[in-house]
Amino acid sequence: MKIKSIVAREIISSGSTPSLEVKVTLNNGVFGKASVPFGASAGIHEAKVLFDGGKRYNGRGMLRAVNNINKVLAPKLKNKDAYDQVAIDQLMITQDGTESKKKLGGNAILGVSLAVARAAANARNLPLYKYIRRVFKLPIKKYVLPNPQMVVIEGGKHADNSTDFQEYMVAPIKGNSIKEEVQAGIEVYLALKKVLKEKKLDSNVGNEGAYAPSGLKTNEAPLKLIQAAIKKAGYSKKDIGIALDPATSEVFSNGKYHLKKEKKKLDSKGMIAYFQNWLKKYPEIITLEDPLHEDDWAFWPEITKTSNIPIVGDDLTVTNPKRLQHAIDTKSISAILIKLNQIGTLTETIQTCMLARSNNLMTIVSHRGGGETNDTSMVDLAVAVNAAFIKVGPSRGERVCKYNRLMEIADELKAKPAGKNFRKIQ
Ligand code: PGA
Ligand code: ZN
Repeated sequence: MKIKSIVAREIISSGSTPSLEVKVTLNNGVFGKASVPFGASAGIHEAKVLFDGGKRYNGRGMLRAVNNINKVLAPKLKNKDAYDQVAIDQLMITQDGTESKKKLGGNAILGVSLAVARAAANARNLPLYKYIRRVFKLPIKKYVLPNPQMVVIEGGKHADNSTDFQEYMVAPIKGNSIKEEVQAGIEVYLALKKVLKEKKLDSNVGNEGAYAPSGLKTNEAPLKLIQAAIKKAGYSKKDIGIALDPATSEVFSNGKYHLKKEKKKLDSKGMIAYFQNWLKKYPEIITLEDPLHEDDWAFWPEITKTSNIPIVGDDLTVTNPKRLQHAIDTKSISAILIKLNQIGTLTETIQTCMLARSNNLMTIVSHRGGGETNDTSMVDLAVAVNAAFIKVGPSRGERVCKYNRLMEIADELKAKPAGKNFRKIQ
């Protein structure tokens, strides 16, 4: 099935600056559309998001990326076979020619990559998750759905005056059904609002729809508030874990981790001891992401070896198969965060997921905090690769559409979520 046309447009993202949407039409008239997100605390090793610069939208326009699609990529891809996703992605990688996809833009390349997959899936009359399994010949038979990781308190680069750390999440892991798990997470989120009010803290929300209270005294305070909310909502900590993404690349400068809330400056060993104290005190913490910064390779193996929960690489690994291989070789992580736009093609994302899988590393597929869209490809990806979790905020349209898509897939497949077995999913 050949590609007839590719048309990109600028759209507005949840961050109130543009993103882009791509429409791929095939010769038989079937089409697919996709849009792409970007991060607020993007890692330095990620594929580059090509912004316009200049005055429009404070320099954050995407017309250059749109132009690269319409003028450079579209003519090259016209008449190519839409079912040959690997060849299409490879052609774009070669056309760009840079390690970071900075010439055409990771945003431009990913938009086309996903829209081609969507058009081809539509032409085959398959939901995207089934198409992904088929086109990449994934060696996975059963479907085990991802548990939610719902961001309920956020700080760092995602809010003003909240915590130094970026994301505090609730992770329902009862395992009966996705509907129940989503309901549990949302009920805890709603109970947390009451807890905040009782403590005279504000319940304004940050980039990802999580609360970002300004009066918190320590970075540990959210853990106590979340514990209280889980109890208030009538759930047990056996069925709802806590997941953390302190995103420490953002607090690292001049050789130290700066925790301004607590007037602390820690070296890598100090940061490890800080989190290990939390893991001892809060056994309900079930995953810990980016506890060290994106190039702190010397210390990642230590925290991974000495922690009894999955230590998740995000800015460290940036969904990049080469960085993941290094992390595997050095035993730096025990799980990996997956974000399609960190690497910029569906093919490379699948390569990273499969490399993780063959090394028994758990995968978590994630939204972005800078600008999200209503695209739900990340959910289909998570289902296709049997990810253990999806990490998404619990409010606002661009986030809840991901949970709504997951519940739709759950009804379609009648499959159960990973539940407490999240470490063993294959
Ligand atoms: P970002 O944050 O999308 O703003 O980079 C999310 C994360 O660090 O996981
Ligand atoms: Zn992260």
